[in-house]
Amino acid sequence: MPKPPAFGCTACGASFARWAGRCTACGAMNTIAELTKAEARLAAGSGDARPRAAALVREPFASSSAAPAPRLSTGIGELDRVLGGGLVPGGVVLITGEPGIGKSTLLGQAALGAAQQTGALGAALPSGALGAERQAGSVLYATAEESLEQVRARMRRLGAAADARVELAASGDAAALAAALAGTRLAVIDSVQLLALDGVDGEPGGVAQVKACAHALAQAAKATGTALVLVGHVTKDGGVAGPRLLEHLVDVVLSFEGDRYGDLRILRALKNRSGSTQELGLFRMGGSGLEEVPDAGGLFLADRDPDVPGTCVCPVLDAGRCLLVEVQALVNPTTSPQPQRRVAGLDPNRVAMVLAVLTRRLGLPLGQADVFVNVTGGVRVQEPAADLALALAIASSLRGIAVPSDLVAFGEVGLGGELRPAARYDARAAEARRLGFQKLLAPGGGQGRGRLVATRIDAAVEMAF
Ligand code: TYD
Ligand code: MG
Repeated sequence: MPKPPAFGCTACGASFARWAGRCTACGAMNTIAELTKAEARLAAGSGDARPRAAALVREPFASSSAAPAPRLSTGIGELDRVLGGGLVPGGVVLITGEPGIGKSTLLGQAALGAAQQTGALGAALPSGALGAERQAGSVLYATAEESLEQVRARMRRLGAAADARVELAASGDAAALAAALAGTRLAVIDSVQLLALDGVDGEPGGVAQVKACAHALAQAAKATGTALVLVGHVTKDGGVAGPRLLEHLVDVVLSFEGDRYGDLRILRALKNRSGSTQELGLFRMGGSGLEEVPDAGGLFLADRDPDVPGTCVCPVLDAGRCLLVEVQALVNPTTSPQPQRRVAGLDPNRVAMVLAVLTRRLGLPLGQADVFVNVTGGVRVQEPAADLALALAIASSLRGIAVPSDLVAFGEVGLGGELRPAARYDARAAEARRLGFQKLLAPGGGQGRGRLVATRIDAAVEMAF
């Protein structure tokens, strides 16, 4: 008989016989905590309170004649797009993010937007039409964190009309909330970490409660055809059960990020059973809620001074979306035996590699220089396609000559000084062109107006200047 698990990870729910500093299942640090008896039983697979199905209902593949219910728009284009075209009736969305990032704001706006749509639909149907009420449904915004007055005040700030057709509730009782889903077209529940279900052991926010509440609500949403949106906080200390615990229970996981970018917020789909994870939504937090930023291509170039040496613009791809970012380098000669390397926004290993290639292949005296590298706007670039722009920014800073202001560059730099094409050349080229850049320096891509093709780093540096 194996020893029953006595410890669990509050981030991912994995269970362990012994305590450890790092969870071997999800890699999180300091998230393993002792389980209560009930949690241990749950983790061991017994003590599950769910009733067993009496008999399996099997259906032939071809039996369903009903068309799938249409999606529900939130009235927020960027959110609808990341969802894959709006909310799916009966689907469960989990939106995660750090406290204060704007989850309640986004969902308050989504609830107001959806209520406007359902309101219109309800009005369009003749009164007493079969199922009219159900189809029109209500929109519920339930909070377990705030008072109703706080939610009302936020919604007013978001521009809610006095007669907005949103219903509000303040409750942390998961059973009551699950029961309230009948006849509800959209329910927002903020947040899952403050819910509790009677009969389940542990505090709200604990692994057992979070799992049980989310499960009960997801079942109810499937049964009633309600689009359900759950809020899940991500906290750095791992004190409350993390949203990763719920990933398999929900259809869509959205992550709302952004403090690094000031007022900019990025919405990503980490998982999407009813759409793509290659979509990115951009918002700005303003005085009356989140404003959409549908045209983000040149967002990070706003304050650029193209005449300063040491910068180069690069079209990067993030979740399928092309953004033009400015890679900056400052190279300062030093006599210190250990020159400084400071990197923000790029992978320090790639920066070290590009420096080594420039030293070796172009003979640049970078070994006797401090090098500072930055990507403006706080953007973090993951792809090696930024290598070439970085190399040009470094060469530009060292020579004191600015890269031409209408040039963008991209491509991966190899150790031998060779350049490798980056994915989706045409998408990058089109975006650069759209934003007024005339010259495109990159390997691959072939001939074309303004296209400078270089296959080696030394040739690229000569072409750029
Ligand atoms: P909130 O949605 O409460 O964050 P979360 O639910 O993720 O914890 O938003 C928090 C911040 O957003 C808060 O600091 C105030 C700011 N904010 C605005 O700047 N403009 C607005 O219109 C609103 C409603 C909030
Ligand atoms: Mg909130």
